[in-house]
Amino acid sequence: MAAVLSSKIQTRPLSPNIGAEILGVDLTKTVDAVTAAAIRDAWYANNIVLFRNQNISEEDQVRFARLFGELGQVINKHAGVSKQHPGVMFISNIKENGELIGALPDGEMMFHSDQCYSEVPSAASMLYAMEIPSKGGDTLFANMYKAYEAVPADIKAKIEGRKALNVYDYANVPTQRGTTSNDAPRFAHPVVRTHPATGRKALYINRLMTEYILDMDRAESDAILAQLFDIAENPAWVYEHNWKVGDILMWDNRCTLHARSDFDASERRLMRRSVVLGEKPV
Ligand code: OGA
Ligand code: MN
Repeated sequence: MAAVLSSKIQTRPLSPNIGAEILGVDLTKTVDAVTAAAIRDAWYANNIVLFRNQNISEEDQVRFARLFGELGQVINKHAGVSKQHPGVMFISNIKENGELIGALPDGEMMFHSDQCYSEVPSAASMLYAMEIPSKGGDTLFANMYKAYEAVPADIKAKIEGRKALNVYDYANVPTQRGTTSNDAPRFAHPVVRTHPATGRKALYINRLMTEYILDMDRAESDAILAQLFDIAENPAWVYEHNWKVGDILMWDNRCTLHARSDFDASERRLMRRSVVLGEKPV
């Protein structure tokens, strides 16, 4: 077999504490093993990676996703799930014949980690920007390694080895914390998880989906979680991504949270989303 030649990728930081842009990769082409390994390393080191000016098909996006593992599944029932790939769906406010063509149509969305309410949450999620509003509709990303490091020692001791219940009532108010019905999917996961590839500890709670810490007085749990949510969302380790058409951005749900800023509901927004299967958090 002929040797595969590969140029090393170039990266550029997106912000001081999270994110890198990767340059010189065309995702319409098959990525060779050396480049794939370099992209994975950049992703592990920076929590999120961005590629700009991509003009990719759904097949290209799926091939890219598979560099990071098996394609995941969409858990909640909503419009816009791809018939070809059950791990691909659309996030959009666009209506065709009176029907939404995607999920999470409008407005601001609280910080969260995708699928943390299920036993085996997705490792990675990615969005490919196809249509974007003239302003707003940014996606914000927070570095949960940094957040964990910033937790005061007394709180660290209290959450050590603890689990918290994550619940997501997609049918209710999917973008904001709300009352959850009994049949909303839920799962208890460690408050602090260890990333399987980097070995680093990350805070694994979020304002949208985390209800309470198990085996703890509810008032104490509420107080600790309120403090942890604020630490998680500290602007010092948040990057706000202002989308351009052709951007594809992949985040690691095991060491980041993400949120969305508000935008004008009369403007169109269309993102193609895919997820990569993860592992049970430990
Ligand atoms: C998601 C998500 C935010 C956005 O797709 O999981 O949270 O900016 N999207 O649309
Ligand atoms: Mn999300």
